[in-house]
Amino acid sequence: MSGRPKRLNHPKSVYVVGLVFKIITLTVIIAVLYHLTLSHHGPNLLTPLKTKIEEKQKSEIMEEVQHLEELEVHRHFHNIAPFPEMPENLRPVCFICHSDYPHSKSKKVRAMLNMHTQFFTCEACHLEEDPGLKVVFNWYNPQDENPKGPFFGTDYDSETGNLITVTDKLSKISVFYKKGDKLESTIQMQDAPIAIDYMKIRDKLTPDQRDNVKKKFHVRIKPKGHECKKCHDRNSILDFRKLSFSDNRRVDLEQLNITGMITKYEMFYLPNLFQGE
Ligand code: HEC
Ligand code: HEC
Ligand code: HEC
Repeated sequence: MSGRPKRLNHPKSVYVVGLVFKIITLTVIIAVLYHLTLSHHGPNLLTPLKTKIEEKQKSEIMEEVQHLEELEVHRHFHNIAPFPEMPENLRPVCFICHSDYPHSKSKKVRAMLNMHTQFFTCEACHLEEDPGLKVVFNWYNPQDENPKGPFFGTDYDSETGNLITVTDKLSKISVFYKKGDKLESTIQMQDAPIAIDYMKIRDKLTPDQRDNVKKKFHVRIKPKGHECKKCHDRNSILDFRKLSFSDNRRVDLEQLNITGMITKYEMFYLPNLFQGE
């Protein structure tokens, strides 16, 4: 056999077939390696390393964004039992005409404002100031005259760092008139005579007539609610301690981590706001 020259002139198809087999072999090897190291179905040989690397890359901003996403979950949660689902005598009158997400005009802030309606009554921001009447903020629960909490968002879970989970999902911060020792609710309910009357006849009204009726419900309501800085500030109109917020949480709310929010709410006018309009 020696001396016989090696055959060199293979037909082209042989190279093609060879290449195909090489590709298949490589694919199988990669698949097996993936299965052994990172796949959820395999023994996860390298997953701990991956987690470690990811942990090192954790950023403040990402945490804040995730935190906000959790808040969104909560808002959803609140929504399972919002005021509108309750009997008329427990439903604020506003929801005859407005939805749970009433803010739509300003793209920059509507998401934020609508989020706040999950833990504030409308009046808390929209009540017209009356120099003759002293107002205080307090937690309001339509089913419990004296809710004790713990309330949504008032503290952090010391283990996870997330907001504490609470069973009271109905209470919202509202504003009350202070009359002597008594707190008088500023919220009008749907069982108020004028509201019942309106619901009976509303389908018969022309748009103009409706517009006129609307004014009757807006008597103590100012068109623009409080701005962010009224609350998120060291001189907040809210007494966070009295509202049973923990010190940590109070400081965070007074000084909101704006940097963290900018990624998600780039459109937001927060940065301007915090420069003081
Ligand atoms: C009878 C229906 C009706 C009721 C009840 C009602 N609103 Fe309205 N409201 C309207 C309509 C209609 C508008 C104008 C359209 C819009 O901006 O959504 C409006 C607008 C508003 C505005 C924007 C400013 C303005 O005047 O256009 C605010 C703020 C507001 N409502 C708050 C409230 C609050 C808070 C309550 C509960 C106390 C309430 N509304 C109850 C119908 C109603
Ligand atoms: C955290 C404070 C806050 C709460 C709570 C709040 N609002 Fe507002 N609302 C505002 C501010 C601020 C504006 C003005 C927004 C702007 O500049 O575009 C506003 C504007 C509005 C407008 C007119 C502009 C728009 O976006 O359509 C309506 C309608 C309205 N609010 C209804 C309500 C109703 C109904 C509730 C209760 C379910 C409520 N708001 C609760 C702060 C609040
Ligand atoms: C009436 C007071 C009030 C106004 C006005 C207000 N906020 Fe808030 N905001 C609060 C309170 C109180 C909380 C926490 C509520 C809770 O978790 O129970 C909060 C929560 C937040 C949070 C979530 C923070 C976190 O760590 O969970 C953000 C972000 C925020 N507000 C931004 C804004 C912006 C932006 C505006 C203006 C468009 C605004 N707020 C207006 C009182 C207010």
